[in-house]
Amino acid sequence: MKKYIFPAIVLLSGALAGFFVYNYKLEKQNVYPNLITGFDQSVKIGGEFSLTDQNGAAFSSEKLKGAPSLLYFGFTHCPDFCPAALQVFTEVSDQFESAPINRVFITLDPERDTAEKLKDYVSLYKAGMIALSGTKQETDKVAKQWRVYYSANKKDPNDQDYLVDHSVYSYLLNKNGELVAIFRSEATAAEITRFIKENHLI
Ligand code: NI
Repeated sequence: MKKYIFPAIVLLSGALAGFFVYNYKLEKQNVYPNLITGFDQSVKIGGEFSLTDQNGAAFSSEKLKGAPSLLYFGFTHCPDFCPAALQVFTEVSDQFESAPINRVFITLDPERDTAEKLKDYVSLYKAGMIALSGTKQETDKVAKQWRVYYSANKKDPNDQDYLVDHSVYSYLLNKNGELVAIFRSEATAAEITRFIKENHLI
């Protein structure tokens, strides 16, 4: 009997180790349920941009460096996704009082979202939120850079009461302004906060 004990222990240890590795992997997959993981890493997403802020001043993405950033693309007339995302961004930044996180909103509706309009809009949130706009051409460029889809649903060219269909992802950038994660709209402040902490982005 004795000669079977050692192989039995080896087998059992192997099985246990396998079980723990398997569980660990499962847990890792489920830690961030709203993290987009499947995107093609070879496709470049993001990069430098120059737009205009809510005070009418030129804004370069260089200014975001030194702190992580949460970036969202939308429009101020958006009834649902945009306000929800900016609320989440604000709750995340509340978790890091001593180390600021840039909260950045880029409008996909530059026609209606003037600097003045953007200024009013971000005043609904904690101070410090950055709202950016560009010309139609600049907006198209930055949307393409970040792989953002958008389309204004105008009934006719004079329609001023239109909605803008847009992708609803939240982008997380590191202190160097590089994209590190994309979250689905269902991501909570707790999920994003945990990601920032666990990946030592601050
Ligand atoms: Ni929206």
